[in-house]
This record gives sequence, structure tokens and C-alpha cells, in this order.
Amino acid sequence: MDLTHRLDGRRCVVTGGGTGIGRASVLRFAAEGARVLVMGRRAAPLDDTVEQVLAAGGEAVAFVGDANDEGCVADAVATCARLWGGLDAFLANAGSPGTNATILDQTVEEWQTVWRDNVLSSMLAIKHAGSVMGAQGSGSIVLVSSVASLRANAGAISYSAAKAAVSNLAMTAANAFAGTAVRVNAILPGLVRTPMTAKVFEYAQARGKSDRIGHMTPLRRTGEPHEIAAMAAFLVSDDASFVTGQCYAVDGGVSSTHPQGRVPL
Ligand SMILES: NC(=O)c1ccc[n+]([C@@H]2O[C@H](COP(=O)([O-])OP(=O)(O)OC[C@H]3O[C@@H](n4cnc5c(N)ncnc54)[C@H](O)[C@@H]3O)[C@@H](O)[C@H]2O)c1
Repeated sequence: MDLTHRLDGRRCVVTGGGTGIGRASVLRFAAEGARVLVMGRRAAPLDDTVEQVLAAGGEAVAFVGDANDEGCVADAVATCARLWGGLDAFLANAGSPGTNATILDQTVEEWQTVWRDNVLSSMLAIKHAGSVMGAQGSGSIVLVSSVASLRANAGAISYSAAKAAVSNLAMTAANAFAGTAVRVNAILPGLVRTPMTAKVFEYAQARGKSDRIGHMTPLRRTGEPHEIAAMAAFLVSDDASFVTGQCYAVDGGVSSTHPQGRVPL
């Protein structure tokens, strides 16, 4: 099979597509033949992503808008449908990380921001993409959750709880579309090197401990954005035609282990 044509002609929206996992996914979708509407809050990174797609001979357009704003999401979906005649895939990737505040120092402001950026944005993606896809009869919605949704210590408290809601949304929404060919799944990345996690890598490097990051994972390393994009491309493609309501960890295996020191084999 020729993977470069797996998404030929597919009409896609990717939120948070100017950086990190979102950008890698846009590049991967376009490389496989998709047309991508690249959505985000800042024009400059979106334009960079689009330029990279165009330079490689692909098709993409930038769309400045907030993934938390219902009008913007509805407009992004409508723009994709107007430009290309429909919507086949929506990658709800936009998200924000929260702070390291202790459980006793949590603030309403942080919870509102983190839950809007991660949960509300996912719900709006499902609602508006699902509406077009439901009318079409098919489509794939992929939410970017996190291994932080599974258990503690992989992110801020507000973020872990919000991502647990995102993972749950993949299951509940898939069932809400029962009887149609609209699929909803979630990807749960482990630690991946992106602008969101840059401080973690800088902190370790400054202390000469770069080799310690990712050492608890079976693969003994952290991930790269293109490795998450590969799972996203699979989930939006027909290769995943029998896959819905699932949460896939792409995490070097870290969510399969209990924390403990290395045991010699
Ligand atoms: N990097 C990791 O280790 C990791 C691990 C697990 C999950 N994730 C998730 O992956 C997704 C992508 O993050 P990333 O690591 O690529 O970091 P990133 O900061 O590069 O990407 C997040 C993008 O989302 C955009 N964004 C945030 N809120 C938005 C909003 N309301 N509207 C529009 N755009 C918005 C940001 O501007 C940014 O471009 C996020 O949902 C994040 O929670 C990342």
C-alpha cells in the first residue's frame, strides 16, 4: 500500500496546528494527500506551517481562531466545507498545560482556563465537526488527550483532570454517534518534546540530567511530535475504519508500568 496517498482528497481541520504535535500532524496529513485547514490563535505559526505544506507540494490554509470559541469552531468547519465541499477529519489538538500549584492552591481561574482549552474545545470540535460528518454519513474526530488522564504525576492537577474528561469524551461521543460511520477516538501522548514541554527539557539539560528524562519508560526515551502524528494519521484514515470510542496511549510504554527503580534482567 502507498501510504503517501492514504488520505488523498480528505478534508481536515487541525486545531493548535501552528506548533508541536499539531504542526507535525498537519505535515503528516498533507504528506498523505489531505487538504488541511490549520487553526490556531496566532497567525505567524499557522502561516509557517502552511508554508511548509505548500513547499512540499501539499494543500493547506491558515485559519486564525480560538478553539474555545463556538463561533470560531463553527466558522472553521463551515470554511472547510465551503472550500472543499465537506469535512472528513477533525484533530482537536489545541490544549494548555496548567500550573504546578498544589491541590490546596488550585484556583478557579486556572481550572476555567485549562478546562476551556482542553475540554470545551474538544466538545465544540465534536459538536460542529460531528454535525457536518453526521449529515455526510461519515468522518473521524480525534481528540488529543494525555497519559495524564490515566493517573497522577504526568502533568498539573487541573490538566490531568481535564484530560480525563477529554478521554471520556472520546468514548461517550463515539456512542452518541452510534449507527453512523462517524468515529471518535483519543490519543494519549506521553512526554513529547514540544513548545509546551520545553521547560522540562531545559530544566533537565541545565542540571546535566537530560538522560534521565524518559528513563522510566520501557523505550527509555521521550517522544517526538511526528510519532503522535503517525497515530493521528492512522485514526483519520480508512485503516481505522472499525476503530471508535478508543483511547490510545502513544507514550513509549510508560502507562504500562508501575513506578519503581530499574530491575536488572
Ligand atoms: N507535549 C507533550 O508531552 C504532550 C503530552 C500529552 C498531551 N499533549 C497534548 O498535545 C496537544 C498539543 O500540545 P503540544 O505538546 O504540541 O504543545 P504546543 O504548546 O506546541 O501546542 C498546543 C497548541 O495549541 C494552541 N492552543 C492552545 N489553546 C488554544 C485555543 N484555545 N485555541 C486555539 N489554539 C490553542 C497553542 O497556541 C499551541 O499552538 C495538547 O492538547 C497537549 O495537551 C502534549
